[in-house]
Amino acid sequence: MITKPTIDRIMEATDIVEVIGEFVQLKKRGANYVGLSPFANERTPSFTVSPAKGIFKDFSSGKGGSAVTFLMELEKFTYPEALKWLAKKYSIEVEETVDTTENREEENHRESLMIVTGYAAKFFHESLLETDEGKSIGLSYFKERGFSNDTIKKFELGYSPDQWEAFTGQALKDGYQQQFLEESGLSVKRDNGSLYDRYRGRVMFPIHSFTGRVIAFGGRTLKNDKNVPKYVNSPESEIYHKSNVLYGLYFAKKAIREEDNCFLVEGYADVLSVHQAGIENVVASSGTSLTVEQIRLIGRFTKNITILYDGDAAGIKASLRGLDMILEEGLNVKVVLFPDGHDPDSYVRNFGTNGFKKHIEDNKKDFILFKTDILLKEVGNDPIKKADVIREIVESVAKIPDSIKASVFIKECSYLLKIDERALLSELNKMRSAKARKDSQQQISRPVPVDETLLDEPQVKIEREDYSQEKEIIRLLLLYGSRVIDWDGIANTYIGPFMIAELSDVEFENATCKTFVEVYRREVENGVLPDEQYFIHYPEKDIVDLTVTLIATKYTLSDNWYEMHKILVPDEQVNMKATILGAIFHLKKQKVGKILEGLRMELQKTIVEADQEILLNQYMHMKKVEKTISDYLGSVILK
Ligand code: CTP
Ligand code: MN
Repeated sequence: MITKPTIDRIMEATDIVEVIGEFVQLKKRGANYVGLSPFANERTPSFTVSPAKGIFKDFSSGKGGSAVTFLMELEKFTYPEALKWLAKKYSIEVEETVDTTENREEENHRESLMIVTGYAAKFFHESLLETDEGKSIGLSYFKERGFSNDTIKKFELGYSPDQWEAFTGQALKDGYQQQFLEESGLSVKRDNGSLYDRYRGRVMFPIHSFTGRVIAFGGRTLKNDKNVPKYVNSPESEIYHKSNVLYGLYFAKKAIREEDNCFLVEGYADVLSVHQAGIENVVASSGTSLTVEQIRLIGRFTKNITILYDGDAAGIKASLRGLDMILEEGLNVKVVLFPDGHDPDSYVRNFGTNGFKKHIEDNKKDFILFKTDILLKEVGNDPIKKADVIREIVESVAKIPDSIKASVFIKECSYLLKIDERALLSELNKMRSAKARKDSQQQISRPVPVDETLLDEPQVKIEREDYSQEKEIIRLLLLYGSRVIDWDGIANTYIGPFMIAELSDVEFENATCKTFVEVYRREVENGVLPDEQYFIHYPEKDIVDLTVTLIATKYTLSDNWYEMHKILVPDEQVNMKATILGAIFHLKKQKVGKILEGLRMELQKTIVEADQEILLNQYMHMKKVEKTISDYLGSVILK
């Protein structure tokens, strides 16, 4: 866990305009900044940042929060990841405490693996740049391949000395534990229990997690020996699941979002060369076939993938089936082939950035049409083969969730396949309805809760409720909680603690409101009055969302806020007593109403006379409570 003082320091240093400005073009407008929402497609800017409050509010998507929640939304960071990103930006050292619960242990375990992997990255990087062997062998190789110093630094490329224990020995000397060296795959255990280096005499490509930490390596040999594997990669570990990682994504995601497209290549070298050429929206699947997880990872940033293939026909054909998966995820896939003997790396080095871009523009093909082309080449005059191809193509089209898009492809394929569009469409519909049947069967076979009919109604009711009374309480706590009460009868107390005490017998139903009130109560008991800023920076996203939604209305963030303020707010401030007590007792009345409703329903169902009497007594009692509240509301407050 990151310590409180560290969090405070991060919050103090954070300038929300600066942070969001890294991702969104912001323009100053009055006291605020506005820009185009990064969460929604919009043409008129509705995305507002208030430096004074330290919040953003996106009126298109409804999202809002602090700089931290912004990073969590946009970069898909966890809370600690977002804090660490900010700490790095503002050069703040992060202090973490060690907890002993099981969860923590697992977290610590992962953290230990990350730390030793990070240490290794530094070791290899320094060995590349600062040792004679590294410079003469590793660095000269990278230079020969055209990688600039900036690229080498940015991607933290390295070199592993050609010895058995250069790294392991140093790591042990520096106090790193055997266990983590072994589990991270950096060291390998001999039969006698001692460790040796997995990577020896290789140039090293660190693989970054999408938050930028090194989690694995690929090491390329520099030997031309057929018996030596070209690449040695980190084994799977607690921090490295190959199928969830894309090489280069950390460095590419900003450009992917901006370009709204992701280039997918095969190798490390391809990523580096293309990136170095200024085309930064590029990632590699690193020699494995693409997984659903990897596609979803890209899908967080764009719905458009362009696959850049080196031109090996057999390899391409083998990969075609795997690509249907991308269609199924609702992404648009384009494919570009490179001429024989070229991969993206060699092409961009030979023809430069513009040549590379032009090649892509001239040759990119929609995946379905590309696939049709390739398969058709093999058909010749064989009608059976042709029928197979047609089925395969329609199968791919059927995977596209958007049926309008699918029908456009059918039109084009009918032209390419020289087959009647209606025939293709009827084939498509057959496949789709088969698929729908299968999907719904899967749903039916799922176990159904026995008491479903009984549970159904109240659940639906609760879901539809908007908890406006509960939220009103939260809004008042946020706005007026730290004001001193100045109405007669009650003195020397603040509105917040007063409300909390008055509400001690009320059970909040909305989970976020409930947590909010619990947190408020806890802080009050600790002698703290939590304010707006406290909740804007609270570590739980739901709480921050609720807070921002309640305090950031179009009015409060708009320029004539002051005007609005004068008009809107006074009426509730004129009689604070009525406002506060009104909210409290309206909520209480609502709760009592619900209890009465429940009792009424139970009474209807009960046949046993004794039970009926108990229920009736309860009912009468609650009726009295309801009347008291109504009277109170009527006489004292709303006169
Ligand atoms: N790869 C691997 N193991 C191998 C061969 C390849 O893990 N034995 C992965 C690597 O991620 C590599 C990618 O597959 O980057 C593509 O392979 P290849 O085209 O052979 O490598 P390049 O990166 O293009 O290397 P180079 O250009 O230096 O030959
Ligand atoms: Mn290559």
